[in-house]
Amino acid sequence: MKVEIGIISGSGAYELGAEILEEFEAETPYGKPSSKVQIVEIEKNRAAFIRRHGPEHSIPPHRINHRANIYALHSLGVENVISLGSVGSLKEGIKPPATVIPEDYISPFRVDTFFEDRVEHIAPELDEELRKELKESALELGIDVRYGGVYLQTLGPRLETKAEIRMYCRYADIVGMTVGSEAALSQELGMKFAAICSVDNYAHGISGEIPNFQEILKRAKTNQEKSKAIVLNFIEKY
Ligand code: HPA
Repeated sequence: MKVEIGIISGSGAYELGAEILEEFEAETPYGKPSSKVQIVEIEKNRAAFIRRHGPEHSIPPHRINHRANIYALHSLGVENVISLGSVGSLKEGIKPPATVIPEDYISPFRVDTFFEDRVEHIAPELDEELRKELKESALELGIDVRYGGVYLQTLGPRLETKAEIRMYCRYADIVGMTVGSEAALSQELGMKFAAICSVDNYAHGISGEIPNFQEILKRAKTNQEKSKAIVLNFIEKY
């Protein structure tokens, strides 16, 4: 069975809305992935789907076993990893709701790696080709995406203080809790990686509104319908 696409979703998307061919528990040298792996199919193209917070949304961001999630995708032969997630906006001009395909990331607080026992260093980046393909998928559907911008990964689980956001907004455009970890691990295993981020709130202090997690979750569910549509179209045309 050839599965070249891997999708990891977060708070906003518990199902992709594609036909599920199979669902199984995976085991990796790093433990179990956050959820069962679902194999979905559209027009004979298959993708493996993992929910990073678990099926019940019970795994907080700082406790996600990213290595197990990424390794499980890699062992299925996945070559393209697409991450869906929710972010806060660090710029007044990036007004929620919006969809961003970031071009780079900063992750100083958590660095995940498979290279524990050997000296090897990747030069981390988000995959240009996959980013472009996702942008084209969005264009085909008439979905407006912001193509570019820097993602800053915080450790979580708490949101950020206003002072932290004043610092981060100088260097980045959106803030979330997962992309840096998943991107670096995917790259270490030779897989392309890109993210589709739903901007569901202004980060703390950027607007008058204090970010509220329940509100963010609610908005993520609605906003990520667009992220899902982009991914489903990408799978269909692959
Ligand atoms: N900060 C960090 N992560 C997030 C946010 C935020 O404001 N919104 C959604 N994910």
